Amino acid sequence: GTTHRKYKIAFSQCTDDNYRRQMLADIKRELAFHPDVELLYRDASDSSQLQVEQVKQMMKQDIDLLIISPNEAQPLTGVVEEVFNKGIPVIVIDRTIASQLYTSFIGADNFELGKMAGDYAADLLHHKGNIVEVIGRPGSTPAIGRQNGFRQSIDKYPGIHITREVYGYWLKDKATTALTGIKNELLQADLIYAHNDVMALGAYNMCKELGIEKRVKIIGVDGTAVPGGGLDLVNNKIINATMFYPTGGKEAVQTAFKILNGEMFDKQHTLQTLVIDSTNVHLMQLQSAKIDEQQKDIEKQQSLLQEQRNIYRGQQTFLYITIAA
Ligand code: FRU
Repeated sequence: GTTHRKYKIAFSQCTDDNYRRQMLADIKRELAFHPDVELLYRDASDSSQLQVEQVKQMMKQDIDLLIISPNEAQPLTGVVEEVFNKGIPVIVIDRTIASQLYTSFIGADNFELGKMAGDYAADLLHHKGNIVEVIGRPGSTPAIGRQNGFRQSIDKYPGIHITREVYGYWLKDKATTALTGIKNELLQADLIYAHNDVMALGAYNMCKELGIEKRVKIIGVDGTAVPGGGLDLVNNKIINATMFYPTGGKEAVQTAFKILNGEMFDKQHTLQTLVIDSTNVHLMQLQSAKIDEQQKDIEKQQSLLQEQRNIYRGQQTFLYITIAA
């Protein structure tokens, strides 16, 4: 029969949470079209040091391509450059590094996202009020972009003030702890802008504790469709809005194959973001349900195909036995 080149793709993920699980699911869904691929997967549990180690280990395993979402930019730059300089293509996804030595970057523009969030916040506040900002991990590029873009937009409104910025490191518990330390500012706040939905939920819990959850508006980022994710939070009116932040998982696999097949691809592939609020959350939920349904159809067809292959193989064996006899 025909021999296929079996590719080994490594995926180095910075951590494991709703958004990351969605990204992995998006990658696997697209990889289903490439049954010959072996996927090596490591998640670094928010540790840049661990992620460097994991990339080094995977690099030794004869990989054809690396997909990486770096925990922090600076600490991961060296090892990504090392892989790239070895001639192994590197696709950087969502968070980026502090150099251009990679093959392709796929992700949304976090500065633009921050600006969009700022303009939306300004409208919610009718151009007047106090904002508390909950920042992601400071050394990761989305945190920097989301902060700077937001500030650029808010600076246009003299009636709006960012009264306090705290670090939540992308984590709910860290966000809650940080907010516990600034209760006075929270009591004066009209809106909380959290750099992701899990921290937005932490902020909501804190507001509830203070009895101000009905008054204070909350904006998050991500809009994942998993139970308890951003779409549910908007739908259940726990937060006012979330900035949709696509995972790029599907695009990463598509780009990987363009690279491996020597086809043209974009060095910079910018994904679109949008505001999700009560006006469009249902549409987003429907869309994601539809993708899930299609996925189930594909899986069903693939298992049918596999069944047929097994039958065919059985017949071949039978034929062989008959001839041999
Ligand atoms: C998940 C996450 C997302 C956020 C992204 C930024 O680990 O914190 O919530 O949008 O990373 O890279």
